[in-house]
Amino acid sequence: MVAELIWQHKHNPYAAGLPPAPLLETCEHVPPAPWAGAELVGGTAGMEGWENRLIEGDKRLVLPALLGEFAGAVDLIYVDPPFMTERTYRGGRGLAYHDRWQRNLDGYLQWLYETFLLLYRLLAPHGSLYVHLDWRAVHFARLLLDEVFREAAAAGGGFQNEIIWHYHSGGRPRRSRGFARKHDTLLLYTRSRQYCFHGERVGPVRGRERRNHMRRQVAEDGRVCWTIHSGGRLYRYYEDERMTPADVWCDISHLHQRDPERNGYATQKPAALLERVLLASSEENDLVLDCFCGSGVTPAVAERLGRRWIACDQSPLAIEVTRERLLQMGPRQAFCLQRVAGTVSE
Ligand SMILES: C[S@@+](CC[C@H](N)C(=O)[O-])C[C@H]1O[C@@H](n2cnc3c(N)ncnc32)[C@H](O)[C@@H]1O
Repeated sequence: MVAELIWQHKHNPYAAGLPPAPLLETCEHVPPAPWAGAELVGGTAGMEGWENRLIEGDKRLVLPALLGEFAGAVDLIYVDPPFMTERTYRGGRGLAYHDRWQRNLDGYLQWLYETFLLLYRLLAPHGSLYVHLDWRAVHFARLLLDEVFREAAAAGGGFQNEIIWHYHSGGRPRRSRGFARKHDTLLLYTRSRQYCFHGERVGPVRGRERRNHMRRQVAEDGRVCWTIHSGGRLYRYYEDERMTPADVWCDISHLHQRDPERNGYATQKPAALLERVLLASSEENDLVLDCFCGSGVTPAVAERLGRRWIACDQSPLAIEVTRERLLQMGPRQAFCLQRVAGTVSE
């Protein structure tokens, strides 16, 4: 049995093929910084001739424009779309973006569905997609993604994880009754069974905590390990080993108003969150895409970790803030600033 989410005027505008792709025009080339930051990981080997891209434009135009070049070629996509909050967000210097849908859930669902259809086409056969939402729409997104990834799921890909990002900040709920809402959700979907995943890079270190039911031993190389016999087998756990990461993340805090990482963009996510996503689901030189880049957290983390990146946003302020953030960190790889030559008709 297959469940499917239906809404008024649901349609797949790409079923019969893609519309003619708009052109992207390059407005600026930013060379690598001679002082490229010491905190950057890895080098630029394997990136020869590659230029990262920061693109200003509506995803409805940018994604089709990218498909000509990057269909099936993006290793990792992270998106943090508008959550349907019915609010307007500011950056430090003015309007950032509207997340207003006049409570038209059908319109929002169609918009999200079209985004997922295009992102799916961009994903590499071993690629992963993280979709970051909250209680307002994540349940709808899961059904939409199940539909878009149906073929992938039949071959062992599709839904992999529902990650709860639990944060402590956020103040008291405005409503007088009910539990405080203290988490966002990230859905992880993959194109196939063969996807990149490195739990060993991001799991918590086992640590020194005393385990009463286990025996402590010091191995020949001086490493401390704990052993236990169970079901006729001997299990050995090293203190300095990383454990399998869980799907509830409680150790990454929301950015507080005065956090030095903040660049004024209202819905800025912490670099630590993106670092976990990129380390777990990509390799050096892999291509990472974020078509709602906002404050520039994805390209900044990708740059630091030695991944190639494409970042887009329709908000001119987001592009300005992202450009500045990248310049400040001193990119090791050249990037260009592009714009869509055209507009979307509603
Ligand atoms: C929740 S914010 C992303 C925040 C980002 N992850 C960060 O950490 O700063 C959503 C972003 O989507 C952008 N956006 C909204 N509609 C868009 C569209 N149709 N095409 C491209 N970007 C869009 C907004 O301008 C906004 O920057």
